[in-house]
Amino acid sequence: MTGQATRQEAAQRALAGLPPSAAVWCSGLHKRYRRRTAVDGVSFTVERGEVMGLLGPNGAGKTSVIKMLLGLVRPDAGEVLLLGRPARDPYARARVGYLPELFRYQPWLTAAEVLALHVRLAGVAVPAGERQEGLAAVGLGDRAGDRVGGFSKGMQQRLGLAVALVARPELVILDEPTSALDPLGRADVRDLLLSLKARGVAVLLNSHLIGEVERVCDRVVILDKGRVAAAGTLPELLGQRELRLRLDRVGPEARARLAAAGRLTRGGDAYTVTLPAELDDAAVPDLVADLVGLGVRVHAVEPGRISLEERLLDILRTGPSEERS
Ligand SMILES: Nc1ncnc2c1ncn2[C@@H]1O[C@H](COP(=O)(O)OP(=O)(O)OP(=O)(O)O)[C@@H](O)[C@H]1O
Ligand SMILES: [Mg+2]
Repeated sequence: MTGQATRQEAAQRALAGLPPSAAVWCSGLHKRYRRRTAVDGVSFTVERGEVMGLLGPNGAGKTSVIKMLLGLVRPDAGEVLLLGRPARDPYARARVGYLPELFRYQPWLTAAEVLALHVRLAGVAVPAGERQEGLAAVGLGDRAGDRVGGFSKGMQQRLGLAVALVARPELVILDEPTSALDPLGRADVRDLLLSLKARGVAVLLNSHLIGEVERVCDRVVILDKGRVAAAGTLPELLGQRELRLRLDRVGPEARARLAAAGRLTRGGDAYTVTLPAELDDAAVPDLVADLVGLGVRVHAVEPGRISLEERLLDILRTGPSEERS
C-alpha cells in the first residue's frame, strides 16, 4: 500500500513537471444518427487560455461535436481528451464548465439554489459570496432569491452561463450562449469571455453571431456537413486586407506605385489595393506619402478587411473540399 502510494506520488510529480496538456484535443470524430452522418472526421485542438470559435450552418454538426467532447454522446469513432484526460474522467468533468444549447433548470429552485446545487455536484467549495458575484456578473444579482420557473428566456440563459462559470473551470464550452440575450447581455458576455481569457481559461464558443466570434476568438473552426471546412487564426482565415482610396491626378508613376503595393482595381476615382496579409504598420502611410509626393490629390483612404461573415459565406458556398489543404 505504502509502495503504491509512493509510486502514485512519484507519477503525480512527474506529471506536474510536464507542460499543461491542451484544453481540448479531438481526433477523427465520427457520428451517425441512423442513416445520417452528422460528424465526419472532425479533429481540432483548443489550447489553454485560448478562445476558439466553432462556426457553421444549422445542422453542420457543432452541437454533436460538443456533446462528443463532453462524453454526452458516444462517438462512432475518434478520440477526445479534455485537459489531458478522457472526457468521462471525473477530474476533467469537474474542471469543465458547460452551457448546453437547450436546457431547463428545476423551476422550483431559486437562482442561488441552482448555483449551490451545481457547485455541490462539481465538488468544489465555492463560498456563497463568490456564487452571488457570479450571478451579478451575468446581470442576475438582484434575482438570486427568485424561482427560475418565472425567469424569461434570456434570464435562463444568463443563469446557464453563471452555472457554466461558477465552479472555477479551466475550460468552458458554450453552445450558443447569447442566442436569447439582448444587446447589453451580449456585450456583457463578450466582457466575461475576455476576462476568462485574461485568467487563462480556455473557451470553446459556438455561436451564429459571427461579429461576436470575430471580436473575442483567437482561432476559428468552421464546420460544414459534419466536416472541418476551414480552420485557423483570424488573420489566417481573413487573409488579405483592402485599402480603398479616392484619388485624382493619378499619373503613370503614381499608378505604378499603387500597383507595387498590391493588386490594384479601379472604378472612376475609386482605387482598391488588395494588400498582402502580413504588412508592417508603415506601409499605408508610406504609400500615401509617396502618392502625395507624386502629385496625387488624396480625397479618402479607407482601410478594410473582409469580415469573418463574408469569409464564412465564401467558404460555405465554395464547399469544404476546395478549402481543405
Ligand atoms: N439525437 C439525434 N438524433 C438524430 N439526429 C440527430 C440527433 N442530434 C443531431 N442529429 C442530426 O445531426 C446533424 C447535426 O446536428 P447538430 O445539432 O450537431 O447541428 P448544429 O451544427 O449544432 O446545428 P444548429 O446550428 O442548428 O444548432 C443534423 O442533421 C441533425 O438532424
Ligand atoms: Mg447546435
